[in-house]
Amino acid sequence: MRTSKKIVFLAAGLTLAIFVLPVAVLAGGNAENGKKVVDTKKLGNCAACHVVPGMEFPGDVGPNLIEAMKNYSEADREMLRQRISDERKFNPDTIMPPFGTNKILTGQQIDDVVEYLLSLNNRK
Ligand code: HEC
Repeated sequence: MRTSKKIVFLAAGLTLAIFVLPVAVLAGGNAENGKKVVDTKKLGNCAACHVVPGMEFPGDVGPNLIEAMKNYSEADREMLRQRISDERKFNPDTIMPPFGTNKILTGQQIDDVVEYLLSLNNRK
């Protein structure tokens, strides 16, 4: 391959790395926003039923999410999305609100919540 061609290939690769990678990262969730969604009564209000970090007097109708998240890893991201979007797919009798199906939360907010929940495992 001639040197000039190599440079063109290199430039194309760099362009991809600079413009495509950040978009891929942004497409995921934002853990900080996710925490707000989880803790806000009018949004997730997850502490009504779950133990979550930093919330006083949590409910115990659902499993402790700090403990439950130990069973989840990056590979379960999509499953976690599905559960928060509509837990009835996993348990038809659940009392957990179908946050996605009922449009309580947007897709972005659910991504943010998933990001936050997965981040709990990386805490020391
Ligand atoms: C009205 C009560 C209620 C609310 C509010 C609620 N959940 Fe749940 N959730 C449950 C129950 C009960 C379960 C147990 C599994 C089932 O019912 O299918 C559960 C299960 C889960 C699980 C699976 C846990 C495991 O053991 O694998 C996750 C994750 C979860 N909830 C996340 C959330 C998040 C995030 C929110 C807030 C956005 C939320 N829940 C709000 C009741 C609730």
